[in-house]
Amino acid sequence: MEDQRVTPAKPRSGSEIILFPLPLQGHITPMLQLGNILYSRGFSITIVHTHFNSPKSSNYPHFDFRPIPNGFLEGQASTVDFIALVTLMNVTCVGPFRDCLAKLLSDASEDRISCCLITDPVWHFTQAVADELRVPRMVLRTSSISSFLAFCALPLMREKGYLPLQDSRLEDAVPELPPLKVKDLHVINTKDPEDVLRLIVAMAETIQASSGLIFNSFEELEPAKLAECRRRFSVPIFTVGPFHKQSVEPSSSLLPQDRSSIPWLDKQEKPKSVLYVSFGSLSIVSEAQFLEIAWGLANSGRHFLWVVRPGSVRGSEWLEALPSGFLEGLDGRGHIVRWAPQHEVLAHPTVGGFWTHNGWNSTLEAVCEGVPMMCMPFFGDQRVNARYVRDEWRVGLHLEYKVERREIEDAIRRLMGGEERKEMRERMKALKRKVDECLKEGGSSYRSLQELTEYLASF
Ligand code: UDX
Repeated sequence: MEDQRVTPAKPRSGSEIILFPLPLQGHITPMLQLGNILYSRGFSITIVHTHFNSPKSSNYPHFDFRPIPNGFLEGQASTVDFIALVTLMNVTCVGPFRDCLAKLLSDASEDRISCCLITDPVWHFTQAVADELRVPRMVLRTSSISSFLAFCALPLMREKGYLPLQDSRLEDAVPELPPLKVKDLHVINTKDPEDVLRLIVAMAETIQASSGLIFNSFEELEPAKLAECRRRFSVPIFTVGPFHKQSVEPSSSLLPQDRSSIPWLDKQEKPKSVLYVSFGSLSIVSEAQFLEIAWGLANSGRHFLWVVRPGSVRGSEWLEALPSGFLEGLDGRGHIVRWAPQHEVLAHPTVGGFWTHNGWNSTLEAVCEGVPMMCMPFFGDQRVNARYVRDEWRVGLHLEYKVERREIEDAIRRLMGGEERKEMRERMKALKRKVDECLKEGGSSYRSLQELTEYLASF
């Protein structure tokens, strides 16, 4: 694929964007990517961030970083229950954020010609602060448009009786949200399920009150959902993705990347022969599931690169749960790392399949590199993305929530060889062409970015 990335140009003085990402890897990455894209368009970029999961400012010397206190004690919250975490932070960050924004606004030089705040929509408290300080606020929703609308529909899903989930209805279709099945609805385990509904209501209301909505997606990927979103929210909507193909990207990784993945891939001889396995930055598996995954991989006979994030196996620090002799028994067919340079891995010519949790970034990155997926979503938007991958775009297989070695082994064989793979690869190629098109001059994301930059400069 043609490299569409733009080297940041010198910013035009006076046009300022203040970004406030949610402190989770899958949200920080696209926010910083958007920052880079806007920087290359002449805006100066300030990142307001919590101490919790703070981004690496040294990787972004061209941005101004402003840390704010989390307002909670260490151990009081963690990403294990991130709904509880964001519910808490939407309260504890109000004062620190308000002070920081007020200072930024009062310190601004006199020749500032425009200023806009862009936050994650989950930071719903920021709309009231922006209104009070009279600064326009836009939101960057880091998920797909489809999953965003499915998330917004959760109160309706409850009204209609689909939620809470009942075992007898899991396979039923949800006619209000095709192609979803009941089992694909956003399930997020949290200590108080009402928090999820409160969060959705607050998020939707403050989006409606905002100055606009930005997506890391592109029009041709989700045209019907984009039209629906425009009907639902009467604010300007911009689809500017995929972000990572449009900016020079320093690493926004919160974990150190193990670069041994690349020389290991280089050593593999056959193109598209390696399965890349990663379940993102938040997923946690039980020890029993971990063993099913491990034996499924081993028994498939395929070569694999497997990211096992420290702490992602319940009760283990890293690989302790693997049976002794497991790694030696692979005879070099498998390589396990704590965290990989995922973009490079997916673009590597020897990688032919991606076993993923379907976080939106991972899903979009796979689409951009044309790598068919094997879907094993855990929670939230991942379930929606996985259903779209299998049933709408038809560029992957779905494990249908069965983490069993035989199912896994069989799915890997189908993903990595045979007729089905050929068809998935053809459809992936067509999607990848759409990515190329949308980024070219005159393409949908190119135009949307033009419109967004003009809009931002008008504030
Ligand atoms: C979270 C939620 O889980 C997801 O559902 C939501 O869409 C975004 O927020 P996360 O689990 O981190 O995201 O998944 P994902 O969105 O795929 O983001 C992970 C990012 O980490 C990707 O950009 C990926 O390239 C990167 N990554 C992952 C690495 O750089 N190395 C790795 O080893 C694994």
